[in-house]
Amino acid sequence: MAGRWVAAIWLAACLLLAPALVQARASPRVESLLARMTVEEKIGQLVQRPGGRQRSPNSRINDEERALVRAGQVGSYINVAGAEATRALQRIAVEESRLGIPLLFAMDVIHGYRTIFPVPLAMAASWDPAVPERAARIAATEASAAGLHWTFSPMVDVARDPRWGRIVEGAGEDPHLGAVMAAAQVRGYQGASLRAPDTIMATAKHFGAYGAATGGRDYGGAEIGPRALADIYLPPFYAAAREGAGAFMAAFNEIDGMPSHADPGLLRETLRTRWHWPGVLISDWNAVAELRAHGVAETDADAAALALASGVDIDMASGLYAGQLAARVRREPALMARLDEAVRRVLAIKERLGLFDDPYRRSDAARETAAMLTPEHRAAARAAAIRSIVLLKNDGALLPLAPSVRRVAVIGELAEDASSQLGSWRARGQIEDVRPLLPALREALPRTEIAYGSGANVPNAVAAARGAELVLLVLGEDFDRSGEARSLADIALPTGQQALAEAVLDTGRPVVVILMNGRPLAIDRLARRAPAILETWFLGIEAGPAIADILTGRAAPGGRLPVGFPRASGALPFAYNRLPSGRPADPDPARDTVRYRDLPVTPLFAFGHGLSYTDFAYSDLSLSRDSLSLTGGLAASVIVRNRGTRAGEEVVQLYAHDPVASVSRPIQELRGFRRIALAPGEAKRVTFILSAAQFAFWDNGWRIEPGEIRLMVGSSSADIRARAAFRLTEPGWAGQPPAALIERITEEPVR
Ligand code: NOJ
Repeated sequence: MAGRWVAAIWLAACLLLAPALVQARASPRVESLLARMTVEEKIGQLVQRPGGRQRSPNSRINDEERALVRAGQVGSYINVAGAEATRALQRIAVEESRLGIPLLFAMDVIHGYRTIFPVPLAMAASWDPAVPERAARIAATEASAAGLHWTFSPMVDVARDPRWGRIVEGAGEDPHLGAVMAAAQVRGYQGASLRAPDTIMATAKHFGAYGAATGGRDYGGAEIGPRALADIYLPPFYAAAREGAGAFMAAFNEIDGMPSHADPGLLRETLRTRWHWPGVLISDWNAVAELRAHGVAETDADAAALALASGVDIDMASGLYAGQLAARVRREPALMARLDEAVRRVLAIKERLGLFDDPYRRSDAARETAAMLTPEHRAAARAAAIRSIVLLKNDGALLPLAPSVRRVAVIGELAEDASSQLGSWRARGQIEDVRPLLPALREALPRTEIAYGSGANVPNAVAAARGAELVLLVLGEDFDRSGEARSLADIALPTGQQALAEAVLDTGRPVVVILMNGRPLAIDRLARRAPAILETWFLGIEAGPAIADILTGRAAPGGRLPVGFPRASGALPFAYNRLPSGRPADPDPARDTVRYRDLPVTPLFAFGHGLSYTDFAYSDLSLSRDSLSLTGGLAASVIVRNRGTRAGEEVVQLYAHDPVASVSRPIQELRGFRRIALAPGEAKRVTFILSAAQFAFWDNGWRIEPGEIRLMVGSSSADIRARAAFRLTEPGWAGQPPAALIERITEEPVR
């Protein structure tokens, strides 16, 4: 009974916010439709039904389902795809339902539809927003031809704990890198206008701190305060909203006790009032019903009313809006206003997608055949894969492989595991489309004898290693070990692989470790023993040729870690942009400082780390002025020179630190980066244009405080090559999260 009262009071509080937030009137078409709709038809627009599972779309479309569409009780489908299937269902909605409102077809198109690109974490490792943007553009071209209007991507959750399996779906640990990658994907999916038939609507998910699940346990709560939420977790969402993402998805978990699907502060005050974002907000799968398990709703009807009142426009798959809302909205006028607001948004999105003009514009059988997996798409997948690879270690310049090498042993079953390269979200990707490492290597090195051992039998692997001049040891995890509900307590190498690695390393042959994985792994001992390590994640259909290109030196490695590698699982969570301690880490055991007794507190491989086959020198860091006002700009420029004999790519990284403020500020924060290509001997000047708003921090608004700001420019968060400082001259407020600000960066040749 008490629960009921709490729910009622809570609901009333949510609804008090409602009048101020009700959207302005929509277009005349939307308003006229709304005026003619029954309550049941309105609710229908908020209902998203599963048309099948991800791997078997359309499998649930039967007569019963078609009757619901005819009755106007469905607004959208997840997992209905294919030009013909979408056209058939759309025809019922448009021609046989009373108001003829078209359906939306949605799917998780995460890193490609048929042409599968590297997993998102890998594409973030390119530190090149053009990579995920192009992948998203191609995914949209293919998915839209199959009748899809809407993807549940990008996942923009910042993740500082790789025990969380869904770290593979995002851009890693940094809010700024995450914001840049989020905006790029929204641009790619949505193109210049969502009316164009080759676009799909993007969804920024999972709002707002799903990646902060305690202990990395998927679906677990986030124990973070308002400052971490605003400064670390929200910036990529803000960037996606600013880029015009049509949809947001709420997160399964709660933040400081407040389930996101029941949080009007997040879903309404932040998203609507502060950010003025007009799109549709959808629940995660069944999450409306799960409000009961969270303990904030006593009945299904309470859960549905609470979610709607809190700001959830569309109910994905729980069926609670369909089954529970009608009676409630009839009883509660404020809830009826919220219903209208949500319906307006759904209709406005359908209008924005051009569906009222031509509901079949994306269901195009001819284009569906012609658009899939074209040679151009495959070439783009290879280019993306090459740019996503990170060279972690390369002692004695073991890579690229010497052209004279005649006998190579490839050890490890991932070398021929085509399926894993597709990752855990593979939409319509086919295993047969994948070119895994082993055959690609044989093709790339026709004159080299390549022995292969899966590693299942260690003596065989050792014999293969002994018979070779060099070993390529392929280690990591298969695709099904990361992803949703794939949390791990221990991110060491899976059982057996460490022993295999030790035995192969004991042969004394030079070993290049090729990692394939969806998350950072704790490989401290392996990293100490192996002379060379290449991080290749899961790279999509062109994984093999891309890795071969890097191994042979036909392409240069230039990717950087979007998340640090810890030395051990027990060192998690860990982030490079942590707050300073009163007792900074000091290896001297006589001093009590912020560190472990049994492990260095530094990461094994730091955020931003990645090597090249050449070497870069930084010089001449200069600032255009030594102070910055609220409205002014400051140019920080640095010269980077390739001082080696091979062409290479460097990611120039700019970090900032505010040494004295009214709150503790992180020891460093990424504020800009640029991936540049340099021929041997070539130099470029990279200039970052900075504004005061980039150094703000959350204090119930983004506060700018006067005082010193220190800048660090370098090759990774742990490899700072130059420093400078300036002063912010005036106090003020910034309008947006500083990490979401993407200022101008230029590069110019230097003679
Ligand atoms: C649950 C996941 O959390 C979400 O990311 C996904 O979009 C939905 N399932 C739909 O598949």
